[in-house]
Amino acid sequence: MKEFQKPLFDFARKVAKEKDPNKEGGFWVFCPDLVIEAIEHFHKTMGSIGLYYAVKCNPCPYLVKTMIEKHNKEIDGFDCASINEIKEVLKLGGDPSKISFSQVAKTKSEIIESYNLGVKLTLVDCIEEVEKIASIKDKIKDLKLLIRYQSNDPEAEYSLGGRFGADEDEIDDILNCIHKNGLNFAGTHFHIGTGAHNPAAFKNGIRIAKETIEKGRKLGYKPSIVDIGGGFCQEVLIDNFAKVILAAIKEYGLEDMKIMAEPGRFIAANSMSYVANVLYKHKKVRKNLCYYSLDDGIHGNMAFCALFNKTVECIPLNPRGTKKIKSIIGGQTCDSHDIVCDFDLEEMEIGDWVVFYCFGAYSMSIATNFNGFEARSRPIVQMPTKNNEIITIPEEIEKKGIPALWGLPNAWNL
Ligand SMILES: Cc1ncc(COP(=O)(O)O)c(C=O)c1O
Repeated sequence: MKEFQKPLFDFARKVAKEKDPNKEGGFWVFCPDLVIEAIEHFHKTMGSIGLYYAVKCNPCPYLVKTMIEKHNKEIDGFDCASINEIKEVLKLGGDPSKISFSQVAKTKSEIIESYNLGVKLTLVDCIEEVEKIASIKDKIKDLKLLIRYQSNDPEAEYSLGGRFGADEDEIDDILNCIHKNGLNFAGTHFHIGTGAHNPAAFKNGIRIAKETIEKGRKLGYKPSIVDIGGGFCQEVLIDNFAKVILAAIKEYGLEDMKIMAEPGRFIAANSMSYVANVLYKHKKVRKNLCYYSLDDGIHGNMAFCALFNKTVECIPLNPRGTKKIKSIIGGQTCDSHDIVCDFDLEEMEIGDWVVFYCFGAYSMSIATNFNGFEARSRPIVQMPTKNNEIITIPEEIEKKGIPALWGLPNAWNL
């Protein structure tokens, strides 16, 4: 057990003890201190690079509010992928001038609405999107455009490059199209892939940024932003990435630019643990293995296990001290492939609770309600901070959730 997991374990056990497993299913434990720790670590290693939290990774309002409230000065802003994410950040007190609408595919009405909400920065990765924006030019006068291109880490857990981002040889055409249409070229953007392992992809992206910025300057622009996206994870030391990124910024003479990063996973992953209940057990005595079903699985908050091919393990909150047995643990849905993990675990009983640590990234944000199980509306229980503080969110959000995001009332009832 890692050091930060011990208090989480004790807290989760205490909360679970109060619950009736027959009536209540799984719940989240949110730990604001772990968000703050990640923010501090990011700034310590990344120097003056701006932190724009990628809300898509986990839009939990307590998490977003922690960033706004506790680290107002240290959070530079937010990367939002949709109008609903923008609205959530604004409802929680975020500043629209610090939001980037970091999504290549947007409708005209979304572009205008976000602009009217005060979001003046977005990105494009093709001529068609530039022309779309040009067609509503009179409504988005000082909208700043970043050109998004590819610089991919082939070893990333999940590549974003296949579909998004211009190829390097398309950049000139996009820049010329922005210029021809009298739009505002403000800088560059790339994302090397989520769960990245290879810092060389950052260096390559920064080289292309330099070349694109030089071309923009020749057209009379004064680009000021280099957005290096996200990709950082807790498993690979961020310090190794930081060294390469900071050296590349220096090597390519970009120190006077505003460098933005959009970390999602690095900030959110550790801050949320999921506590699930064992509701079904089938012991195959002759095969010496146990099938268990939890109240959540790969169609719910554990979808990322299948999507990112992640190996996860859970820990019983009340260990029985029984012999370990091969355990195949899945969700409650009718899908026989709904299997979350498969490892040797001491034998459990129906009604036992298990905890999954480091479950904050791309979990609740991509959960579905498949089979009618309400995976998207699990309660969130908050651990007080070291200073015994609690993050509060507006009552409206606490009671109803953010309907457009979650589609369910009472999503945040504790
Ligand atoms: C444009 C953009 N920025 C940032 C992120 C966050 O990436 P990560 O969670 O790997 O830091 C993503 C993830 O999909 C993204 O698409």
